Amino acid sequence: MRILEAESYEKMSAIAAGIIGGQVLLKPDCVLGLATGSSPIGTYEELVKSCKAGVLDFSQVRTVNLDEYCGLFPESPQSYRWFMDHHLFDHVNIRKENTFLPNGTAPDIGAEAKRYEKLIDSLGGIDLQLLGIGHNGHIGFNEPTDSFPRYVHQVDLTESTIRANSRLFDRIEDVPKKAITMGIGTIMKAARILLIAGEDKKDIIQRAMYGEITPAVPASVLQLHRDVTVITCKK
Ligand code: GLP
Repeated sequence: MRILEAESYEKMSAIAAGIIGGQVLLKPDCVLGLATGSSPIGTYEELVKSCKAGVLDFSQVRTVNLDEYCGLFPESPQSYRWFMDHHLFDHVNIRKENTFLPNGTAPDIGAEAKRYEKLIDSLGGIDLQLLGIGHNGHIGFNEPTDSFPRYVHQVDLTESTIRANSRLFDRIEDVPKKAITMGIGTIMKAARILLIAGEDKKDIIQRAMYGEITPAVPASVLQLHRDVTVITCKK
């Protein structure tokens, strides 16, 4: 595991975008696993700049996102589909039909989970997975629990995640209580993993990267992956 400490959020974003951009240059039709949240916004801004400058070409890139809220339609500004369109897809030359997220409004979420897991495999697996981390150590929406979930599945969000994510909703009651997420096994199958964490995540990064490997701190499983880069930032 490589752990880099950037001087600032801007530098962390530039380094992360450099790693993702390198992946796209080396394999133009790569499969990128993408994340939402405040952490990757700066990274996406840098990728947009590089694409507009003609340095990066997303025309053959395929993307799969980690997770989606249950019950939110893609048009909802709080949905992760909206987030991805708004922060990345609408501003680069990616083909929308090559961008995938789990469908949080599928009538049968169990069947949707199976479909999404198969879809990732059918694309040839994830070349590089970008991750953020929750204050409780969640990755994607894999909340602390007593075993590592293997496949894409539905989760009940914890109170702390609902509270943390309520900043993006008008009222805390509007935050969905359930989500559909890649499992820990799905994430661990990615060839390379890149985790970015703001300075407010110092404590959980310390526990996850140097502490006991336990499903009570889901990100701790990354210690077992053979190619993980973690970028933190000082401020
Ligand atoms: C959400 C997402 C996670 C993300 C986490 C941290 O719960 N499902 O994928 O890593 O929030 O978000 P932030 O970067 O805003 O702190």
